[in-house]
Amino acid sequence: MPQSVQVANRIGDVIPQDQPIIVTIDGPAGTGKSTVANAVAKRLGLDVLDTGAMYRAATAIALDDNIDLDDVDAIVERVADADLHFDWNRDPPAILAWLKPLNERIRSEDVSAVVSRISAIGPLRAHMVRKQRLIAQQHPRLVSEGRDQGSVVFPQATVKFYLDADPTIRARRRASQLADVGTKVTEQEMLQRILKRDHLDSTRADGPLVCPKDAIVVDTTAMNFDGVVDTLVMHVNTHAGI
Ligand code: DC
Repeated sequence: MPQSVQVANRIGDVIPQDQPIIVTIDGPAGTGKSTVANAVAKRLGLDVLDTGAMYRAATAIALDDNIDLDDVDAIVERVADADLHFDWNRDPPAILAWLKPLNERIRSEDVSAVVSRISAIGPLRAHMVRKQRLIAQQHPRLVSEGRDQGSVVFPQATVKFYLDADPTIRARRRASQLADVGTKVTEQEMLQRILKRDHLDSTRADGPLVCPKDAIVVDTTAMNFDGVVDTLVMHVNTHAGI
């Protein structure tokens, strides 16, 4: 039997290059899921899917087209028409609607303010779940990050993680990220927003934020970024049977 090709970005970070692998990372806002997912994917030679970007893109489309946010059918129809895709040549992959990049638009404050409401729309979630599974068929070696990736979208994932952190720490991290891009929000304000978003994300009927039973819980409250990435990489290597 031919030996499988190995990817080795750092000593110890090796998984066979021909082995399909889905790693899911779920958890509430402000746990650093996106940056951790990107770093883990890089270390292991996997692609990365930011599913929050898809819900943010749907929200930006609804807002920019002045669609009534209660008009579920109109939102789903317009988002389906936009044929959301990622440009995989960008690092990290950038989301496109009607083949146009949405870039910073999806990170703006007005999008963040209503994205929980939009992402609670059941038929929209069904559309996104289908898309995410199709993406995984095209990118079978994937780190997929969001709220329902291990629980709903990829129940058979190779390894599932649930990242958590104390809400005050999450609020501090988010406020500091926003300050870096010139938006001033106090930690107290951010804490209220985060708690509201956590509540909306975890109480919706479809694809709520839950910790999958078989997920590895990583509490990042007292961990630094490299420590979190090392922990996840170590678990993936162990579970992938290397
Ligand atoms: O991770 P984020 O902050 O970019 O996510 C934006 C919003 O999208 C957040 O309110 C939760 C929602 N979301 C979701 O409902 N399901 C996912 N798989 C990913 C994100």
